[in-house]
Amino acid sequence: MSELSLENLVKIYPFTSTRRLFGRKQARDMLAREQAMPYTTNEGVIAVQQFSLEIKNGEFVVLLGPSGSGKTSVLRMVAGLESVSDGTIRMDGKVINDTPPPDRNMAMIFQNYSLYPGFTVYDNLAYPLRNLHMPRAQVDEKVRAVAGLLEMTPLLDRRPSELSGGQQQRTAIGRALVRDPGIFLMDEPMSNQDPALKARLREELKRIHRKLGTTILYVTHDQTDALRLGDRIVLMQDGMIVQAGTPQELYQHPRNLYCATFLGTPQMNVFRGIPVQEGKIRLMGRDISLPESIKKAAGGMAAVTVGIRPVHFVPDPRGIEGTVDYTESIEAECHLHLKHGNEAFTVVVPKTSGRPYSRGETVRVMPETDRIHLFHPQTGIRLD
Ligand SMILES: Nc1ncnc2c1ncn2[C@@H]1O[C@H](COP(=O)(O)OP(=O)(O)OP(=O)(O)O)[C@@H](O)[C@H]1O
Ligand SMILES: [Mg+2]
Repeated sequence: MSELSLENLVKIYPFTSTRRLFGRKQARDMLAREQAMPYTTNEGVIAVQQFSLEIKNGEFVVLLGPSGSGKTSVLRMVAGLESVSDGTIRMDGKVINDTPPPDRNMAMIFQNYSLYPGFTVYDNLAYPLRNLHMPRAQVDEKVRAVAGLLEMTPLLDRRPSELSGGQQQRTAIGRALVRDPGIFLMDEPMSNQDPALKARLREELKRIHRKLGTTILYVTHDQTDALRLGDRIVLMQDGMIVQAGTPQELYQHPRNLYCATFLGTPQMNVFRGIPVQEGKIRLMGRDISLPESIKKAAGGMAAVTVGIRPVHFVPDPRGIEGTVDYTESIEAECHLHLKHGNEAFTVVVPKTSGRPYSRGETVRVMPETDRIHLFHPQTGIRLD
């Protein structure tokens, strides 16, 4: 187990050279795309910048962000597979910027697990140790200990093709584990799996983490993964950290609209240009008093952007009128997609009433006032 400290990491990839081998036009198009990226220097694309993060011993940290936000670049720099353009990486207090990957005491687990298909589970687990020329008896002892820990002893003679997805994941984790790494690095390890299996793999990974207490840095673009797995989520955009905190912190106090709409399903409803007066907002024909905590923050503003999660509306006979556009029935919930004038919004209601909602029907709902989020109308930054 180890801790990791990242200080002002920067990664700059040089622009595509238009003198490359693969067709001039392709190279020019690629270069044009790279030059249009949000952050560039004269030399190249800035994939990661101002990236500072402390990861504690035993912590499970999830790097979350859309495609191209720099997650893999951070992970590869930590692993030593990619050079660091600027900044410092420390592991247990020691600078490791120039330490070669095999000496970093980290284990990386990839998307496809890259198990050796012709090897049994035993040989897959033993492979990294045999590579280190460890004596046979010691290899056997280690492999059996890890297999026991991961409850895989009965599977040792099987080949990867004879394993379930979860067992393959365990084998990949086991193979990383035999070397006693200080940190596990995982890049979208479950993105190939179907949703049901993914849910089970998540449970399993959580369980293993609880049992072993390993430090894990996990990359995903899936907010559900992040909310369920992480002790802490680090949300990225354009190579920078937007917000880092516990899943609850990000869900309950998103720093800005980007974070607010990235996390949570269905997505948070966003209402723009909502008038504020005397501590009240006027939303779709109803005056709603703001709680004290955000009243002050909204003071002096004529209009704000209001965010309300679909799960934070409740039925209210004197509430906002919404016309049912369409509905979705999901497990114990019903998602009502409503219209009010030009606004479209979503409300989640429990299915307990058993009553089906029909298109065109009017429903009345009110937001829970202490669950309302206000954002600055121009910058999108949270107002409290
Ligand atoms: N080897 C490379 N050479 C040039 N540019 C690169 C290279 N690798 C990544 N980039 C660019 O750096 C940026 C960040 O890429 P990165 O792979 O870190 O994103 P990511 O968050 O992992 O995305 P994804 O979710 O798609 O895997 C992107 O704009 C990408 O095009
Ligand atoms: Mg990636």
